[in-house]
Amino acid sequence: MWSVLAGMLAVASLGAACTPSVTTVSGTHAPATVCSGALIFADDFDNFDLEKWQHENTLSGGGNWEFQYYGNNRSNSFTHSGRLFIRPSLTSDQFGEAFLSSGHWNVEGGAPADRCTNPQWYGCERTGSPNNILNPIKSARVRTVNSFSFRYGRVEVRAKMPAGDWLWPAIWLMPAYNTYGTWPASGEIDLVESRGNRAMTHNGVHIGTQEAGSTLHYGPYPAMNGWERAHWVRRNTAGYNSNFHRYQLEWTPNYLRFSIDDMELGRVTPGNGGFWEYGGFNSNRNIENPWRYGSKMAPFDEKFYLIINLAVGGTNGFFPDGVSNPTPKPWWNGSPTAARDFWNARWSWLPTWNLNANDGQDASLQVDYVRIWAL
Ligand SMILES: *[C@@H]1O[C@H](CO)[C@@H](O)[C@H](O)[C@H]1NC(C)=O
Repeated sequence: MWSVLAGMLAVASLGAACTPSVTTVSGTHAPATVCSGALIFADDFDNFDLEKWQHENTLSGGGNWEFQYYGNNRSNSFTHSGRLFIRPSLTSDQFGEAFLSSGHWNVEGGAPADRCTNPQWYGCERTGSPNNILNPIKSARVRTVNSFSFRYGRVEVRAKMPAGDWLWPAIWLMPAYNTYGTWPASGEIDLVESRGNRAMTHNGVHIGTQEAGSTLHYGPYPAMNGWERAHWVRRNTAGYNSNFHRYQLEWTPNYLRFSIDDMELGRVTPGNGGFWEYGGFNSNRNIENPWRYGSKMAPFDEKFYLIINLAVGGTNGFFPDGVSNPTPKPWWNGSPTAARDFWNARWSWLPTWNLNANDGQDASLQVDYVRIWAL
C-alpha cells in the first residue's frame, strides 16, 4: 500500500516537473514524452550505434556529382576514444586502379541493411570508362532518418573539421517527410560545412580550413533557392581543423539561429510573409507558394533529421573554379570528366590528406558528441 502510494506520488511529481514543449519528435529513438528543456537525443559515440545512425549506401554524389561513394565500412566510419570518425579512402585500394575506368559497380545488397539508399543520379549502379570513371573515393554519410527527427529544438554538435584538399565535411538536417514537396521546397538546414584545403583563397579570402559556414536552403524548386540570404561564415585563423568547436542551432517557431561556441553566426526571423517573402520569391506572381498554408516558419515548421558526412569535390561550385590553392584545382565545374581529372591529379591532393599518419585523423571528420534538447 505504502509503495503503491509512493509510486503514485513519484508519478505525480514527475508529471508536475514536465512542462510540455512546442518541440515534436518521431522515430525509433524519440522520447515518448517531450518535456521543455529535456535532452531528447544524444550520442557521445562511446560505441557506434547503428540503430541510431543509418549509413547511406550510394554512388549518387549528393546531387553535386561529388567524387565519393558512401558505404557502410569500418574503414570509413567508426567510433574510437569516444569520437565518431568519418575517414576517406581510395576506391583503388579495395578494387585496384583498373576498376575505376573499366569496372562495374553495383552497390545494391541483399540484406536489409545493405540496400542502396539513393538510386538518383545513377546512385546504385555505374560502369566506369576512361573518361567517366567510377567514384574514386570511399567515404561515409550517416543519418538519423529512422531513429530520430524533430521540429524545433536546440542542437549542439562538438566536432573537428578535417584537413586535406577538396574535402567537404557537413553536419546538417533534412526534412523527414518533405511536407512541402521535394528539395528545396521542404527546406535544408546546414549546421556546418567547411573545406579541407589548408591554404586556399578565393578573391583574396581564405575559404579553406579557416572558414566554417551555416546555410538554409529553401525555395519552390531547385533553380529558385533563397540560400544566399541565409548563409553565414566565420573565419578562424587557427583553422577549424585544429580544434573541436561546438556548432549550434536554436530553432524556434520564430527564428533559426546558428552559433559557434556560443557566439552567434547568423539568424533568420521571418516576418508575417514567412520565407516566401524573406527569399524574395513574392515578386514573382507566376510561381505558387508551396508554404502558403504553413506557418511563417514554413518550410522550417516540420520535422527534420540529422546527417553527418564527408564528401569530396563535386561540380556544384562549392569549390569555385577561380580558387587559388598551392596546387591548382584539378577539375572545372562544367567538365564532364571532373572525377577523372580529379583522380589524375592525385599527386597534388593525396599528400595533403596524410592518410598514412596517425590513422588518417587529419583527413577525418571527428565528432565528439551530438546533443538535441527540446525547447
Ligand atoms: C572496407 O574497406 C576496406 C578499405 O577500402 C576494404 O579493404 C574492405 O574490403 C572493405 N570491406 C568490404 C566488406 O567491402
